[in-house]
Amino acid sequence: MELVPLSMEFAAEMAAAGANDDEVNRLTGTHGTFTLEDYEAYIERTLNDPNRYTRAITEDGKFLGEVVLTINPHNRSAGMRIALWGGFGKGYGSIAIRHVLDHAFNERDLHRVDLEVYDFNDRAIHVYKKLGFREEGRLRDALLWDGVFHDAIVMSILSTDNI
Ligand SMILES: CC(C)(COP(=O)(O)OP(=O)(O)OC[C@H]1O[C@@H](n2cnc3c(N)ncnc32)[C@H](O)[C@@H]1OP(=O)(O)O)[C@@H](O)C(=O)NCCC(=O)NCCS
Repeated sequence: MELVPLSMEFAAEMAAAGANDDEVNRLTGTHGTFTLEDYEAYIERTLNDPNRYTRAITEDGKFLGEVVLTINPHNRSAGMRIALWGGFGKGYGSIAIRHVLDHAFNERDLHRVDLEVYDFNDRAIHVYKKLGFREEGRLRDALLWDGVFHDAIVMSILSTDNI
């Protein structure tokens, strides 16, 4: 597994992955469908934004997913999101999150990293807690999926947390 900077070469693989995976769309609460042009525009924006830190998660050069920090330098904080479209349960997600936490706290001197995760996503919640994220609260009925409301759990980790 390699973590490499997200680049335009991944646009087609990202578009194919996103279009073909209802389960990952459910886990990430992704309602929309995106075209290749949408992914190209997204990558272009990301590359031009100094407050984004994005890594593609790859295996043998093949795109598996991405992990993203959206940094607010004024607050020394960042939002994190991660999605794999394959290769689950091989430790890749944990490695990728450890990498961005190291980047946030040690390279960018951030204080806080937070995220939202839907309450049914037991695997993600397990991984986040294992890596030191703590639950802060719930956004009640934040996601409507197939006619059913679900809570989003807000989690965070601070540079000063004992982990
Ligand atoms: C969540 C995600 C990033 C985790 O990455 P991963 O590479 O699959 O996870 P890892 O292999 O690093 O770790 C999996 C851990 O979860 C545990 N696990 C697996 N399924 C589980 C479940 N249903 N309930 C609880 N724990 C579970 C494994 O036992 C393992 O535990 P360990 O690290 O203590 O041994 C990845 O699965 C993913 O992207 N999923 C789809 C999209 C998604 O959910 N994104 C997050 C949105 S907030």
